[in-house]
Amino acid sequence: MTELDGKNILLGVTGGIAAYKSADLVRRLRDAGADVRVVMTRGAEEFVRPLTYQAVSGNPVHTSLLDPDAEAAMGHIELARWADAVLIAPASADVIARLAQGLADDLLTTLCLATEAPLVLAPAMNRIMWAHPATQANVARLRERSATILGPGAGDQACGEVGDGRMLEPLELVAGLAALFPGTELTGTRVLITAGPTREAIDPVRYISNRSSGRMGFALAAAAARAGARVTLVAGPVTLATPAGVERVDVESAQQMHEAVMERVDACDVFIACAAVADYRVATPAEAKIKKQDADMELALVRNPDILADVAARQRPPFTVGFAAETHAMQAHAEDKRRRKGLDMIAANWVGRPEGGFDTEDNALEVTWEGGGISLGPKAKTRLAAELVDVVADRYRQKTAHAGGPA
Ligand code: C5P
Repeated sequence: MTELDGKNILLGVTGGIAAYKSADLVRRLRDAGADVRVVMTRGAEEFVRPLTYQAVSGNPVHTSLLDPDAEAAMGHIELARWADAVLIAPASADVIARLAQGLADDLLTTLCLATEAPLVLAPAMNRIMWAHPATQANVARLRERSATILGPGAGDQACGEVGDGRMLEPLELVAGLAALFPGTELTGTRVLITAGPTREAIDPVRYISNRSSGRMGFALAAAAARAGARVTLVAGPVTLATPAGVERVDVESAQQMHEAVMERVDACDVFIACAAVADYRVATPAEAKIKKQDADMELALVRNPDILADVAARQRPPFTVGFAAETHAMQAHAEDKRRRKGLDMIAANWVGRPEGGFDTEDNALEVTWEGGGISLGPKAKTRLAAELVDVVADRYRQKTAHAGGPA
């Protein structure tokens, strides 16, 4: 289950180029189990046709307060009551201003006044409009009234400028929205997670690394936090935003990751090793940039510490969960790894196959423990992470109940 399972999400789309991303957002919300109804402002219709959102949401799109057909099907007051949350993405400077004023001059703003559901805004606009004192004052006013503001992010803008004002990516918005509906499966539990690749220096400018995006580990951290856990995420070099409520420790090399984990492992109840840790590092990284000389060159490599095995081998280990990314004989390799490393649970996934794995948005997992197992996915990593956290919470509870209390 994810926090958005069965939730009714009213998605308001306003006039901005980021409206095209909201079609993907609808898909992601539905992936997370939400029922989505879309309300468009007139400005939004200039960018995307209602039919697009109708197709992706599977529900009729609402565009006007004065549409007798729409009102007959589900009137605006009914729609306002139906919503468990109202998400406006993209939220233009104009709709932010109108909401701050409490105006009800179209369907979307009327719904916002008529609902008791939480209001979440994902602003998207030119960076100067965002920074303008009028916009900032409007945002502050909405925050005072308990609206949640997700973003905006920084980066290239459609107007050719660079700065704050980009709408957050759909998956970031789904995670931010899910944070409004916290679970309790891991309340009081401290969870330590590794994520992403590591970088092993060759010289000051080059390194050995891998294709791990960190998405699965970050999604797990977000899901564990939403399930009520206190989460620390030890992250290799990735370009992902820190999930809400998660403490993040950035590292680069396997040795740094090992150190960061060992410093914190005694204070955790559950350890999930999701990082793609380099098995080897360069024996002696060069202090200066290596110049090309001969036709061939050799690099001497030495083994890195196995973080997961070291955690599992501690005298009082936490509940340990490992990952196994395999290109062949997945189950056999994973089972062997679980036993060899002494893990409580292992989650195996294929790499180099369409059902997911490295550097992809979807994934599928074969999760096993002593005497049992479950297949999860294929589905979006965010949803998969929530399901895996449920399984971990369940097994962890059974283990601690058996052992007579947490480690
Ligand atoms: O043995 P293998 O590298 O395939 O095991 C994968 C699992 O072990 C993953 O959970 C990974 O995070 C963890 N691991 C680790 N430290 C290493 C190598 C792998 O924690 N040096």
